[in-house]
Amino acid sequence: RGKRAFIAGIADDNGYGWAIAKSLAAAGAEILVGTWVPALNIFETSLRRGKFDESRVLPDGSLMEITKVYPLDAVYDCPEDVPEDIKTNKRYAGNTKWTVKEVAESVKEDFGSIDILVHSLANGPEVSKPLLETSRNGYLAAISASSYSFVSLLKYFAPIINPGGATISLTYIASEKIIPGYGGGMSSAKAALESDTQVLAFEAGRKHKIRVNTISAGPLRSRAAKAIGFIDMMIDYSLENAPLQKELSAEEVGNAAAFLASPLASAITGAVVYVDNGLNAMGVGV
Ligand code: NAI
Repeated sequence: RGKRAFIAGIADDNGYGWAIAKSLAAAGAEILVGTWVPALNIFETSLRRGKFDESRVLPDGSLMEITKVYPLDAVYDCPEDVPEDIKTNKRYAGNTKWTVKEVAESVKEDFGSIDILVHSLANGPEVSKPLLETSRNGYLAAISASSYSFVSLLKYFAPIINPGGATISLTYIASEKIIPGYGGGMSSAKAALESDTQVLAFEAGRKHKIRVNTISAGPLRSRAAKAIGFIDMMIDYSLENAPLQKELSAEEVGNAAAFLASPLASAITGAVVYVDNGLNAMGVGV
C-alpha cells in the first residue's frame, strides 16, 4: 500500500507544509493534515469552496486529495494543559480533541498508523523584537511552539509510526549564523530544533526504527514569513549572494522532503539538510 503522511502546520497554500504535502501526494502518499485551531475554519472553508484548486494540481494533472484535516494546537500536549482562557476562546469553540496527544489518538483510531510525520510550524510572538529586548514569556513561547512542539508530536505519534518511517521538520540558518531581524528567541528555537533532531534521531531510531531529519530552508514568502517583516529583503539577499541565483520555490523544499521521507534516504537520519540554493555555504556576499 501507499504511505500515509501526517503534516502538521498547513493553513493555506503558500507555506512549506502545503508544498511538502503536494510532493508527498505526487509520490503516492495519502495526506492527513493538522491545522492550527484558530486557522481551521477559514482553511477548511477555502478548501471546500475550491479556493486552492489551482494549487492542488499535481504533475500528472490530478488534484491533491487531503483525506482528513485535524484541528491541532501543538502548544498543548493534553487537555489538562489547556488554560481556561483558551478553552473559552471563541476561536477554539466548537472544536475538540486538538491537543497533540488527542490528535495522535484520533489518527490512530481513524487510520491505525502513519509512515511520515512532518512538522512545518513555528510561532514566536516577539519575533520582530531583538533577542536583547525579548521577554522571558516571549522566548519560552517561541521555544514551546517551534521546538518542543516537535518533541511532543514525535513523542505521541512515534508509537503509531510504522518502522522505517520518517519525520521531517523545517529549520532556518538563523540557528547557527547571525540573521538580524529573526528575533524573539526564534533563532534560539531553531537551534534547539536542530540539536533535538540529533538526539531524537538516536532515541526514535533505536526505539522505533524511525528517522528524524530537518530541512534548513531558504526564504519563502509564506504567511508566517510575511509576519516577520524582512522576507523580501532575505529573498533579495539570497538572489544576490547564493551560489544558485534563482528564487527558491516551495516545491523544491517539498521535493527534498519527499526524498528524505522515502526509502531513497533510508540511511539518512539526524541530519540538517540545506535546501537554500547553497546560501549557507557562503562566507561573504559577492
Ligand atoms: P506557514 O505560515 O505556512 O506555516 C506555519 C504554520 O504554523 C501555520 O499554518 C500556522 O497556523 C501554524 N502554527 C502556528 N502555531 C501553531 C500551533 N501552536 N499549533 C499548530 N500549528 C501552528 O509558514 P512557513 O514559513 O511555511 O513555515 C513552516 C516552517 O518552515 C516553519 O517551521 C518555519 O520556521 C520554517 N521556515 C520558513 C522559512 C521561510 O522563509 N518561510 C525559512 C526556513 C524555515
